[in-house]
Amino acid sequence: MSATVAPAPVALDAVTVRFGDYTAVEDVSFEVPHGTFLSIVGPSGCGKSTLLNLVSGLGRPASGTVHNAILADGKRIGYMFQRDLLLDWRTVTQNVALGLEAQGTPRRAARAKAAELLPTYGLAGFESYYPCQLSGGMRQRAAFARTMSTEPALLLLDEPFSALDYQTKLKLEAELLLVFRRSGGTALMVTHDIDEAVAVSDVVLVMSGRPGRIAAVHEVPFAATGLAPFEVREVEGFGHYVRTIWQEIES
Ligand SMILES: Nc1ncnc2c1ncn2[C@@H]1O[C@H](COP(=O)(O)OP(=O)(O)OP(=O)(O)O)[C@@H](O)[C@H]1O
Ligand SMILES: [Mg+2]
Repeated sequence: MSATVAPAPVALDAVTVRFGDYTAVEDVSFEVPHGTFLSIVGPSGCGKSTLLNLVSGLGRPASGTVHNAILADGKRIGYMFQRDLLLDWRTVTQNVALGLEAQGTPRRAARAKAAELLPTYGLAGFESYYPCQLSGGMRQRAAFARTMSTEPALLLLDEPFSALDYQTKLKLEAELLLVFRRSGGTALMVTHDIDEAVAVSDVVLVMSGRPGRIAAVHEVPFAATGLAPFEVREVEGFGHYVRTIWQEIES
């Protein structure tokens, strides 16, 4: 009896993206198997956000194919953009409730659930604040809470922790992995932080720039240990992956 391998829910094949005459991404192919946490790292402008946009269905390639079975099946996708896109006229609670409301949870129940979630994201006490009254890190945490609230089948995260202090970042990495595992979903995250990519991912994809191409792909063993993100950074061999990826981005 031969084992059948389920096709990856997300797959890009020979994708090239152009903006006018400019080629932003060229001949990129990769798969994200079900249940996999894949991170993309690479220099600024190499096309990381462009790739997330393609996977989300918001962008289209000039050539090549983008396959997203989760989107095609109408399952839930959570997309946290690089800019937080909070609605200025909604409070923190109301912003976090948006994701739940969009998936059909009645408004009152959505807001109650959102209010319950806020302490986990360090936003207790700020329920009634408007985005203009928040720090950059608080805005980012509200956007993150909104994305995580529905425990989507596919998580698309564009530098979700870039505005956070180190300690908060480690706490939210742990929360991210908890929700990711509980939902049994698939995740695609863009980050500038190589440590973070190595700590939370099963696969790290390294891109080079101008035009953006895949420079290397690493299977990383640390997230699968189930250790907390701060513990995993102490595991032997962790630094080796970080240095290797660092050098690949430098060159
Ligand atoms: N809508 C657009 N129109 C024209 N050019 C664009 C558009 N979106 C992106 N680009 C260009 O495509 C390239 C890749 O952009 P992208 O935002 O994907 O980079 P990135 O890797 O996410 O960078 P960063 O790390 O700074 O967020 C950049 O040179 C950018 O100027
Ligand atoms: Mg970007």
